[in-house]
Amino acid sequence: MAIRSPQSEDGDRAAPPAVFEFFAGGGLAGIGLGQGGFATAFANDIDAAKAASFRANHPRVAFHHGDVWNLSAADLPDLAPAVCWASSPCQDLSLAGARGGLKARRSGAFWGFWKLVEELDAAGRAPPIVVLENVTGLLSSQGGADFAAVCDIMARAGYRVGALEMDASAWLPQSRPRLFVVGMKGVAGPEAAAPVAPFHSPRLIAAQAALPDHTRAAWAWWRLPAPSRRNHDLETLLEPDDRCDWLDEADVRALLAMTSPLHRARLDAALASGERRVAAAFRRVRIEDGAKVQRLEVRLDGLAGCLRTPAGGSSRQYVLVADQGRIRARRMTGREAARLMGLDDAYALPKSESAALKLMGDAVAVPVVRALGEHLLAPALAGALQEAAA
Ligand SMILES: C[S@@+](CC[C@H](N)C(=O)[O-])C[C@H]1O[C@@H](n2cnc3c(N)ncnc32)[C@H](O)[C@@H]1O
Repeated sequence: MAIRSPQSEDGDRAAPPAVFEFFAGGGLAGIGLGQGGFATAFANDIDAAKAASFRANHPRVAFHHGDVWNLSAADLPDLAPAVCWASSPCQDLSLAGARGGLKARRSGAFWGFWKLVEELDAAGRAPPIVVLENVTGLLSSQGGADFAAVCDIMARAGYRVGALEMDASAWLPQSRPRLFVVGMKGVAGPEAAAPVAPFHSPRLIAAQAALPDHTRAAWAWWRLPAPSRRNHDLETLLEPDDRCDWLDEADVRALLAMTSPLHRARLDAALASGERRVAAAFRRVRIEDGAKVQRLEVRLDGLAGCLRTPAGGSSRQYVLVADQGRIRARRMTGREAARLMGLDDAYALPKSESAALKLMGDAVAVPVVRALGEHLLAPALAGALQEAAA
């Protein structure tokens, strides 16, 4: 198979393999893949603010702003991509949403992506690798039917298919489990004979076991090396205290009044330790004794909670600092959120904090994608290129 890259037309044999990045948002999948040896040749997103951020950070990448359903293969660069990547919308799959699944309008955009893969195939330009990145809710939405549908469509198109659950917390101080469904055709990535922790979680193993026989026949337990130990925690990514806008005492009191007795006890223990302790906290609506209650959920394990898009203001994360006998609190900044996604400060964020937080809350963590690119996708392509050269 001839895998062409953006520059290979000019005879540059060392040019990196090309990626078509769909649902690209701020382009973090492409940044991670770029660090893993790939180059984004084309990207698409429907959202105007995301489009502006993508263009600001990747001025040389061909970008299409619009609905994936309105694209055809003829609109894509005239080359055979090595990877077609889809970080398609998760709202209808996530446990927090109404869970209409892949038949619903937003998450159903995955099928618009797949239509393009089929068109590329028909034009003799099928990508050897396809990746769907999404929330782990994909494993269980519609009773597992959505996960089965994705695996099945890849298998029917001739791909070996496998999935990995990767939590950003292995690389970054943010809890962010995500599912990566990876299909390979004409190339072979490293495989294990059986599931391997932590990437093949119990819920993923159960979802695989529930696939129909013909889909399971195409299954691969993709193998990645265990990530090395993370060596930094939330505090290392925060702005210095004296540059932050802290809430006034009345607002801190109101916030702390929302903690459950258990979380309040954790904070009290942190205060009593006499050491400076940093916590991340989210406001959440919980049902207690049949009634809705606003709770402030606090974590003191050195991790931020999963960044989310700010919806109605309730999901913005707070930073709490227990120090010298008092607790201070402030909102997490967009720049801190970007660092929690693995971006360095050269990444241009939107001026508005809420736009920056929305961009980051929707994004994929860079070092996770890099690990996938470096240890699974690149070795698969390298094997194919060696075979072609032999
Ligand atoms: C989960 S986010 C992916 C973000 C991206 N991986 C990043 O790192 O920023 C999903 C993206 O899909 C885009 N999107 C939703 N529906 C779309 C459609 N029909 N066509 C193209 N893009 C769409 C959204 O604007 C959003 O940026």
